[in-house]
Amino acid sequence: MYSNIKIAPSILSADFSKMGEEVKMLEKSGADLIHCDVMDGVFVKNISFGPKMVKDIRKYTVLPLDCHLMIVNPEKYVGVFADSGADIITVHYETCGDNLINTLKLIKSYNVKCGAVINPDTNADKIEAALEYCDMVLLMSVFPGFGGQKFIESVYDKLSLVKEMIIKSGKKIDLEVDGGINLETAATAIEKGANVLVAGNTVFSSCDIKQTMQFLKGKKN
Ligand code: DX5
Ligand code: ZN
Repeated sequence: MYSNIKIAPSILSADFSKMGEEVKMLEKSGADLIHCDVMDGVFVKNISFGPKMVKDIRKYTVLPLDCHLMIVNPEKYVGVFADSGADIITVHYETCGDNLINTLKLIKSYNVKCGAVINPDTNADKIEAALEYCDMVLLMSVFPGFGGQKFIESVYDKLSLVKEMIIKSGKKIDLEVDGGINLETAATAIEKGANVLVAGNTVFSSCDIKQTMQFLKGKKN
Protein backbone atom coordinates (compact mmCIF):
# COMPACT_ATOMS: atom_id res chain seq x y z
CA MET A 1 0.00 0.00 0.00
CA TYR A 2 1.35 3.44 -0.91
CA SER A 3 1.09 5.66 2.17
CA ASN A 4 1.37 8.88 0.16
CA ILE A 5 -1.65 8.22 -2.05
CA LYS A 6 -4.85 10.13 -1.33
CA ILE A 7 -8.36 9.15 -2.34
CA ALA A 8 -10.85 11.88 -3.23
CA PRO A 9 -14.30 10.30 -3.68
CA SER A 10 -16.52 12.31 -6.02
CA ILE A 11 -19.87 13.12 -4.44
CA LEU A 12 -21.36 13.32 -7.93
CA SER A 13 -22.04 9.59 -7.47
CA ALA A 14 -23.58 10.03 -3.99
CA ASP A 15 -27.26 10.23 -3.09
CA PHE A 16 -27.91 13.99 -3.22
CA SER A 17 -30.95 13.62 -0.94
CA LYS A 18 -28.69 12.68 1.99
CA MET A 19 -25.41 14.33 1.15
CA GLY A 20 -24.45 15.17 4.74
CA GLU A 21 -24.65 11.49 5.72
CA GLU A 22 -22.79 10.43 2.58
CA VAL A 23 -19.91 12.79 3.33
CA LYS A 24 -19.74 11.62 6.95
CA MET A 25 -19.68 8.01 5.76
CA LEU A 26 -16.80 8.79 3.34
CA GLU A 27 -14.78 10.40 6.12
CA LYS A 28 -15.38 7.41 8.42
CA SER A 29 -14.36 5.05 5.60
CA GLY A 30 -10.96 6.70 5.20
CA ALA A 31 -11.38 9.24 2.39
CA ASP A 32 -8.61 11.86 2.29
CA LEU A 33 -10.49 14.64 0.49
CA ILE A 34 -14.05 15.18 -0.72
CA HIS A 35 -14.15 15.88 -4.46
CA CYS A 36 -16.97 18.29 -5.36
CA ASP A 37 -17.79 18.32 -9.08
CA VAL A 38 -19.40 21.63 -9.95
CA MET A 39 -21.03 21.63 -13.42
CA ASP A 40 -22.88 24.46 -15.11
CA GLY A 41 -24.56 22.85 -18.12
CA VAL A 42 -22.53 25.20 -20.37
CA PHE A 43 -18.89 24.13 -20.17
CA VAL A 44 -20.10 20.56 -19.72
CA LYS A 45 -23.38 18.92 -20.72
CA ASN A 46 -24.57 18.36 -17.17
CA ILE A 47 -25.67 20.39 -14.17
CA SER A 48 -24.67 19.24 -10.68
CA PHE A 49 -24.61 21.70 -7.78
CA GLY A 50 -23.17 25.01 -6.71
CA PRO A 51 -21.66 26.71 -3.65
CA LYS A 52 -24.70 26.05 -1.42
CA MET A 53 -23.92 22.33 -1.48
CA VAL A 54 -20.30 23.04 -0.51
CA LYS A 55 -21.46 25.27 2.35
CA ASP A 56 -23.94 22.69 3.63
CA ILE A 57 -21.58 19.69 3.54
CA ARG A 58 -18.85 21.75 5.22
CA LYS A 59 -20.70 21.13 8.51
CA TYR A 60 -20.48 17.36 8.11
CA THR A 61 -16.76 16.82 7.61
CA VAL A 62 -13.35 18.13 8.55
CA LEU A 63 -11.84 16.71 5.35
CA PRO A 64 -10.56 19.16 2.72
CA LEU A 65 -13.24 20.03 0.15
CA ASP A 66 -11.65 19.73 -3.29
CA CYS A 67 -13.85 21.81 -5.61
CA HIS A 68 -13.47 21.05 -9.31
CA LEU A 69 -15.12 23.91 -11.21
CA MET A 70 -16.44 22.82 -14.59
CA ILE A 71 -18.00 26.21 -15.27
CA VAL A 72 -17.47 29.09 -17.65
CA ASN A 73 -16.03 32.30 -16.18
CA PRO A 74 -14.81 30.55 -13.02
CA GLU A 75 -13.19 33.79 -11.81
CA LYS A 76 -16.68 35.14 -11.09
CA TYR A 77 -17.39 32.33 -8.64
CA VAL A 78 -14.14 31.46 -6.83
CA GLY A 79 -14.94 33.98 -4.09
CA VAL A 80 -18.28 32.43 -3.25
CA PHE A 81 -16.79 28.90 -3.25
CA ALA A 82 -13.99 30.10 -0.96
CA ASP A 83 -16.54 31.67 1.39
CA SER A 84 -18.56 28.45 1.31
CA GLY A 85 -15.67 26.47 2.77
CA ALA A 86 -13.69 25.14 -0.21
CA ASP A 87 -10.13 24.15 0.72
CA ILE A 88 -8.92 23.60 -2.84
CA ILE A 89 -10.38 25.11 -6.00
CA THR A 90 -9.32 23.78 -9.39
CA VAL A 91 -10.11 25.56 -12.66
CA HIS A 92 -9.84 24.40 -16.27
CA TYR A 93 -7.34 25.80 -18.75
CA GLU A 94 -10.18 25.38 -21.28
CA THR A 95 -12.35 27.92 -19.41
CA CYS A 96 -9.59 30.33 -18.34
CA GLY A 97 -7.25 30.44 -21.33
CA ASP A 98 -4.78 33.31 -20.92
CA ASN A 99 -6.46 34.22 -17.65
CA LEU A 100 -5.38 30.97 -15.94
CA ILE A 101 -2.55 32.42 -13.85
CA ASN A 102 -4.67 35.40 -12.78
CA THR A 103 -7.47 33.06 -11.74
CA LEU A 104 -5.05 30.92 -9.72
CA LYS A 105 -3.75 34.06 -8.02
CA LEU A 106 -7.31 35.12 -7.28
CA ILE A 107 -8.04 31.77 -5.60
CA LYS A 108 -4.85 32.15 -3.51
CA SER A 109 -5.94 35.61 -2.43
CA TYR A 110 -8.78 33.91 -0.53
CA ASN A 111 -6.25 31.70 1.28
CA VAL A 112 -7.50 28.66 -0.58
CA LYS A 113 -5.27 26.15 -2.38
CA CYS A 114 -5.52 26.22 -6.16
CA GLY A 115 -4.98 23.99 -9.12
CA ALA A 116 -5.10 23.88 -12.91
CA VAL A 117 -7.11 21.23 -14.79
CA ILE A 118 -6.77 20.06 -18.38
CA ASN A 119 -9.05 17.89 -20.48
CA PRO A 120 -7.78 14.65 -22.07
CA ASP A 121 -7.16 16.38 -25.42
CA THR A 122 -5.30 19.41 -24.05
CA ASN A 123 -1.50 19.36 -24.09
CA ALA A 124 0.37 19.55 -20.82
CA ASP A 125 2.48 22.47 -22.06
CA LYS A 126 -0.62 24.70 -21.78
CA ILE A 127 -0.25 24.69 -17.99
CA GLU A 128 3.54 24.65 -17.70
CA ALA A 129 3.85 28.38 -17.01
CA ALA A 130 1.08 28.17 -14.42
CA LEU A 131 2.76 25.41 -12.42
CA GLU A 132 4.59 27.76 -10.10
CA TYR A 133 1.21 29.08 -8.88
CA CYS A 134 -0.37 25.64 -8.43
CA ASP A 135 -0.77 23.49 -5.33
CA MET A 136 -2.32 20.81 -7.51
CA VAL A 137 -2.57 19.78 -11.13
CA LEU A 138 -5.64 17.81 -12.17
CA LEU A 139 -5.52 15.69 -15.31
CA MET A 140 -8.90 14.64 -16.64
CA SER A 141 -8.87 11.03 -17.76
CA VAL A 142 -12.40 11.30 -19.21
CA PHE A 143 -14.14 14.21 -20.90
CA PRO A 144 -15.81 16.00 -18.01
CA GLY A 145 -19.57 15.94 -17.49
CA PHE A 146 -20.50 12.52 -16.22
CA GLY A 147 -19.37 9.85 -13.80
CA GLY A 148 -18.95 6.21 -14.77
CA GLN A 149 -16.96 6.72 -18.00
CA LYS A 150 -13.96 4.72 -19.21
CA PHE A 151 -10.41 5.92 -18.46
CA ILE A 152 -8.71 7.34 -21.59
CA GLU A 153 -5.39 5.53 -21.73
CA SER A 154 -3.40 8.27 -23.49
CA VAL A 155 -3.54 10.15 -20.18
CA TYR A 156 -1.00 7.75 -18.65
CA ASP A 157 1.79 9.31 -20.73
CA LYS A 158 0.56 12.76 -19.83
CA LEU A 159 0.75 11.83 -16.14
CA SER A 160 4.43 10.86 -16.56
CA LEU A 161 5.12 14.06 -18.46
CA VAL A 162 3.43 16.31 -15.91
CA LYS A 163 5.11 14.43 -13.06
CA GLU A 164 8.46 15.30 -14.65
CA MET A 165 7.40 18.92 -15.08
CA ILE A 166 6.49 19.03 -11.39
CA ILE A 167 9.82 17.53 -10.33
CA LYS A 168 11.63 20.03 -12.56
CA SER A 169 9.68 22.90 -10.98
CA GLY A 170 11.07 21.92 -7.57
CA LYS A 171 7.65 22.66 -6.05
CA LYS A 172 5.49 20.39 -3.96
CA ILE A 173 2.47 19.99 -6.24
CA ASP A 174 -0.16 17.27 -5.97
CA LEU A 175 -0.92 15.39 -9.18
CA GLU A 176 -4.58 14.39 -9.26
CA VAL A 177 -6.30 12.24 -11.87
CA ASP A 178 -10.06 12.24 -12.41
CA GLY A 179 -12.35 9.90 -14.34
CA GLY A 180 -12.65 6.16 -14.84
CA ILE A 181 -10.53 5.26 -11.82
CA ASN A 182 -10.93 1.61 -10.79
CA LEU A 183 -8.51 -0.86 -9.17
CA GLU A 184 -6.67 -1.42 -12.43
CA THR A 185 -6.43 2.15 -13.73
CA ALA A 186 -5.57 3.38 -10.20
CA ALA A 187 -2.51 1.12 -10.03
CA THR A 188 -1.16 2.34 -13.39
CA ALA A 189 -1.96 5.99 -12.64
CA ILE A 190 0.00 5.72 -9.38
CA GLU A 191 2.91 4.14 -11.24
CA LYS A 192 2.90 7.06 -13.68
CA GLY A 193 3.06 9.62 -10.88
CA ALA A 194 -0.48 10.45 -9.69
CA ASN A 195 -0.79 10.88 -5.92
CA VAL A 196 -4.45 11.93 -5.64
CA LEU A 197 -7.11 9.70 -7.19
CA VAL A 198 -10.67 10.89 -7.74
CA ALA A 199 -13.16 8.05 -7.77
CA GLY A 200 -16.93 8.28 -8.05
CA ASN A 201 -18.50 5.19 -9.50
CA THR A 202 -15.91 2.74 -8.12
CA VAL A 203 -16.37 3.99 -4.57
CA PHE A 204 -20.14 4.39 -4.53
CA SER A 205 -20.92 1.11 -6.31
CA SER A 206 -18.82 -0.82 -3.82
CA CYS A 207 -20.35 -2.83 -1.00
CA ASP A 208 -17.27 -2.20 1.17
CA ILE A 209 -16.26 1.40 0.58
CA LYS A 210 -13.50 1.40 3.19
CA GLN A 211 -11.82 -1.63 1.67
CA THR A 212 -12.24 -0.33 -1.88
CA MET A 213 -10.49 2.92 -0.98
CA GLN A 214 -7.62 0.96 0.57
CA PHE A 215 -7.38 -1.22 -2.54
CA LEU A 216 -7.33 1.92 -4.71
CA LYS A 217 -4.32 3.04 -2.66
CA GLY A 218 -2.60 -0.20 -3.58
CA LYS A 219 -3.32 -2.37 -0.54
CA LYS A 220 -3.28 -6.05 -1.52
CA ASN A 221 -5.91 -8.54 -0.30
C1 DX5 B 1 -16.30 14.05 -14.47
C2 DX5 B 1 -16.01 14.40 -13.02
C3 DX5 B 1 -15.44 13.28 -12.25
C4 DX5 B 1 -16.28 12.04 -12.24
C5 DX5 B 1 -15.57 10.89 -11.62
O1 DX5 B 1 -16.85 15.12 -15.09
O2 DX5 B 1 -15.10 15.47 -12.93
O3 DX5 B 1 -15.07 13.66 -10.94
O4 DX5 B 1 -17.50 12.24 -11.67
O5 DX5 B 1 -16.42 9.82 -11.67
P1 DX5 B 1 -15.98 8.34 -12.04
O6 DX5 B 1 -14.93 7.95 -11.02
O7 DX5 B 1 -17.24 7.60 -11.91
O8 DX5 B 1 -15.41 8.37 -13.42
ZN1 ZN C 1 -13.98 16.01 -10.95
